[in-house]
Amino acid sequence: MKGVLDFARARREATPIAMVTSYDAWSARLAAAADVDCLLVGDSVAMVVHGFPDTLHATLEMMAAHTAAVRRGAPESFVVADMPFLSHRRGTAAAVEAAGALMRAGASAVKIEGLAGHEDVVAHLVGSGIPVMGHLGLTPQSVHQLGGYRVQGRSSEAAQRILEDARRLEQLGAFALVLECVPEQLAADITAALAIPTIGIGSGVRTSGQVLVMHDLLGLQADFRPRFARRYLEGHELVREAFARFVADVRAARFPAREEILC
Ligand code: KIV
Repeated sequence: MKGVLDFARARREATPIAMVTSYDAWSARLAAAADVDCLLVGDSVAMVVHGFPDTLHATLEMMAAHTAAVRRGAPESFVVADMPFLSHRRGTAAAVEAAGALMRAGASAVKIEGLAGHEDVVAHLVGSGIPVMGHLGLTPQSVHQLGGYRVQGRSSEAAQRILEDARRLEQLGAFALVLECVPEQLAADITAALAIPTIGIGSGVRTSGQVLVMHDLLGLQADFRPRFARRYLEGHELVREAFARFVADVRAARFPAREEILC
């Protein structure tokens, strides 16, 4: 995908959208070569790359640096960058500064979690020419308020609130919406109610597309295996085994071999 119009077309033509997170140039290059539709520089980078316990530790500088790396690896791809914790909650001027920094770093759009309390920011960014992707349901930046990483929108009142927020985001000009960990029926209802595409994670199959965190897709973390995240590789085993073989070769003086010696 090259631009927001491609998202609208995908929704019209019911072509599923495949999005993965990427945080660096090498993975961006490989994902682009595999025809991934959209790369997300998620604030999950704070957890899976930097080792923090939650996404609240992602800073604007961190997000901009990873966005720039992804852009260098995938110059032609559509790249969405997460607005980090609180960067859209300090008023419109601060949000424009933050979003501008991400766009200048190479983003094609920004993603903003939640809606209540920053509707004006979404409208202002869209009006300023910055495409905005919404993110409703489980919004990890609010993990402490939500009481943990749990499915959202189970009660009819909660489901109604998420549906209303989704409609409002569309009215404000969001071009797409991530639905994280909501019941499948709610995700289907929201998708049917909107003209913009929905991209699900842990929300069933009846959305306009799916997103996975790269480290989950590649199985890079041995002990973290959410039920909704299909592993396409046991990456942690392959990587650990490669390191172990290197260590064994060095210790046995099998590396470098004759042909690996430069002179
Ligand atoms: O930060 C992230 O990786 C995300 C996805 C889980 C959608 O926002």
